[in-house]
Amino acid sequence: MATILITGSDGQLGSELKLVSKNYYGYDFIFTDLDTLDITDNKKTRDFVQKANPDWIINCAAYNLVDKAENDIQTAMLVNGTAVKNISESIKGSECRFIHFSTDYVFSGKSNIPYNEHSDPDPESAYGRSKLAGEKAALSHHAAMIIRTSWLYSSFGTNFVKTIQKKARERESLNVVFDQAGTPTYAADLAEAVMVIVAGVIRNQVAFIPGIYHYSNEGVCSWYDFAEAIVSKSGLSCIVVPILSVQYPTAAKRPAYSVLDKSKIKENYGLNIPHWRTSLNRCINLLK
Ligand SMILES: NC(=O)c1ccc[n+]([C@@H]2O[C@H](COP(=O)([O-])OP(=O)(O)OC[C@H]3O[C@@H](n4cnc5c(N)ncnc54)[C@H](OP(=O)(O)O)[C@@H]3O)[C@@H](O)[C@H]2O)c1
Repeated sequence: MATILITGSDGQLGSELKLVSKNYYGYDFIFTDLDTLDITDNKKTRDFVQKANPDWIINCAAYNLVDKAENDIQTAMLVNGTAVKNISESIKGSECRFIHFSTDYVFSGKSNIPYNEHSDPDPESAYGRSKLAGEKAALSHHAAMIIRTSWLYSSFGTNFVKTIQKKARERESLNVVFDQAGTPTYAADLAEAVMVIVAGVIRNQVAFIPGIYHYSNEGVCSWYDFAEAIVSKSGLSCIVVPILSVQYPTAAKRPAYSVLDKSKIKENYGLNIPHWRTSLNRCINLLK
């Protein structure tokens, strides 16, 4: 029986993986979070991993406070960089497969065509730099797969969908930037994709090919389009007003364009990815 260790499993993606795992029988899932396995602790990580002896590690732990990271780069680097190195070191020399997640914010956003896995990362925020450090740390293990994703949301945790719903219930109008384009990702879809890959590899239906991959839902939109869809699909009457990023200053600079090209993950693992509007509908129905 394959043992699958999930770290940071109380977050959005980890919680979705817990749900999805119920449909996958015959695997031994070990779900951990900060209280049971703090991956910034090198010794504890090594000891835990040695004892659990997993065939797979799926690291969902992260420091995702994009603006806060600008003034707290040490913590961001510790969780997003050093802790990933701790995991890599804990499985050094073993055949354990390692799946780690990164972000569209490793890109500067100066492109106007979707970023693929060969595009040069050039993060403009402390968060993006810490996630890029994590990519390098994960890839030091010979059997590591990095999945970069973007604009993640879920019915679990705090995210843009829930924030917009809350604000739209309280206000008559809402300003949202329309000059940053990307693609939302429903964490439930990403969790399902991860399990399709893991199960496919375990059953010898697909080959595990280490390296970097991109995953988001299909389609493209601005934060304004996304907010507008959230408000209308939630049946709320708040007016969403498009504004420029300069009218909404933030501590961290965000990419103006961060659409991810998902061809590689779709081709290698035969994934069918839903459009962001379809998945948003599913999440909003669940939140009702
Ligand atoms: N959220 C997004 O919009 C977004 C976009 C692109 C990529 N991603 C990436 O996608 C992945 C999943 O993100 P997510 O949104 O599911 O994250 P999340 O909801 O913030 O969950 C992260 C989890 O990791 C835990 N954690 C923090 N420090 C830890 C540590 N030292 N040891 C163990 N666990 C720790 C957190 O606990 P506490 O809550 O107690 O801190 C939380 O339960 C991450 O790699 C993230 O960087 C996210």
